[in-house]
Amino acid sequence: MSVALDDRPRRGRPPARNEILRAGRLGGMAPTELAERFGTPLYVYDLGVVDGQVAALRAVLPPVVELAYAVKANPALAIVAHLGRLGLGADVASGGELETVTRSGLSADRVVMTGPGKRDDELRAAVAAGIRAITVESPGELARLESIAATAGRRQPVMLRAAVSEGDRLERVRLVGDDGAGKFGMDAADLGVAACRAAASPHLELLGLHAFGASNVLDAGGLVEHVAATVATARRMARTVGAPLRLVDAGGGLGIPYEGHQESLDLVRLGAGLHEIVAGWPADPILRDARLLLEPGRFLVGPAGAYLARVVDRKTVDGSVVVILDGGVHHVLRPALVGQEHRIRAVASRPEPMGTGRLQPVTVAGPLCSGLDVFSQAAVMSPPEVGDLLAILDVGAYGFTESMPLFLSHPIPAEVAVRGGRAELIRPRVEPGRWLDEQVLPAWDAGV
Ligand SMILES: Cc1ncc(COP(=O)(O)O)c(C=O)c1O
Repeated sequence: MSVALDDRPRRGRPPARNEILRAGRLGGMAPTELAERFGTPLYVYDLGVVDGQVAALRAVLPPVVELAYAVKANPALAIVAHLGRLGLGADVASGGELETVTRSGLSADRVVMTGPGKRDDELRAAVAAGIRAITVESPGELARLESIAATAGRRQPVMLRAAVSEGDRLERVRLVGDDGAGKFGMDAADLGVAACRAAASPHLELLGLHAFGASNVLDAGGLVEHVAATVATARRMARTVGAPLRLVDAGGGLGIPYEGHQESLDLVRLGAGLHEIVAGWPADPILRDARLLLEPGRFLVGPAGAYLARVVDRKTVDGSVVVILDGGVHHVLRPALVGQEHRIRAVASRPEPMGTGRLQPVTVAGPLCSGLDVFSQAAVMSPPEVGDLLAILDVGAYGFTESMPLFLSHPIPAEVAVRGGRAELIRPRVEPGRWLDEQVLPAWDAGV
């Protein structure tokens, strides 16, 4: 058997990233073909990359760990359905996300609901659906849920969410840059009272504890530390109420590298740390029957997405090249929101190969009348020309869903799933006329 030189592992070279852009193609499809078929700007998701992320993570996890996809990362029905078919559960944060997972065909016993400010109608829907667990964020929410479960005649499984904050020494759950401290979960005092109430209620079944550490963590050691702290807090809570744990939920937060110089999360180290944490569980009466739940979002779908946009203008301002695309931060808000650039790649669209010009810093911006609408002030590339296609990478998570597509009334991009060299439209492009048609003038303006 002959082995092609390129297939041999090369020492010192990191393994290729599992991502949508490979050899100038997006999930095996020519970007020009995608642009012609579906128009630009365009969101493209490679389901093969999602498969790869799921497989890579599962390969290192102990059997007691389960995955629930955090739907907020990308709620596209096709993505949720795909992850459901791969056997993952789902973490939903609203009634709308609950409806999404229901429509995706994912069974309710694989769904958990977490998030602040759950309305009564959302809690009622979750109870009626019979989901696996509702994570309670406050004593008030616990009381409302108890009464909703009683009215529905059900015993609702719950987890309690621990506030994660640096000052929270009793909980010893570490804060790693959570900017919403105080908004999520309960402090140690409320947690203890809520645990006793939930354990005593005939309408609630206390399964365990939830704690979300931080988002986009690339340090495996930090993630392991957070999981260990969550397990320790859950164990203390269980001892207080004298009941064993069924579920410990350490949330999501597994990071992906957005910039070229960043290293991927060390999955082997993460897996080893988790194995160590759960090693003693079989002999521990409190943890013997517990499962450890992780709720990754970004890690599973982030690298699978690209935003494809076309250059509509190019100019030189004070000696610097500026290109303006037909899409911008109204569709990919993340760079403006968190101040982090995404990798930008020119993907061929002219007969002559791109990238033959001199590499130089290029400002890549969108069409909005806002200084925020800039993907990069200095993307190093051979300056693209009008008509060329650029791909903004790693937008599969917190991309379209986290944006503001109505701002400036540009078309809303289509979303397309690609797999095995085939592309399918999963959400059509919407022209501004559509939402103009839906609007009504007040009667006084319409002359009524
Ligand atoms: C409760 C909960 N679980 C999971 C996630 C997913 O996090 P990530 O996409 O960073 O894995 C989030 C993100 O905000 C969250 O709030």
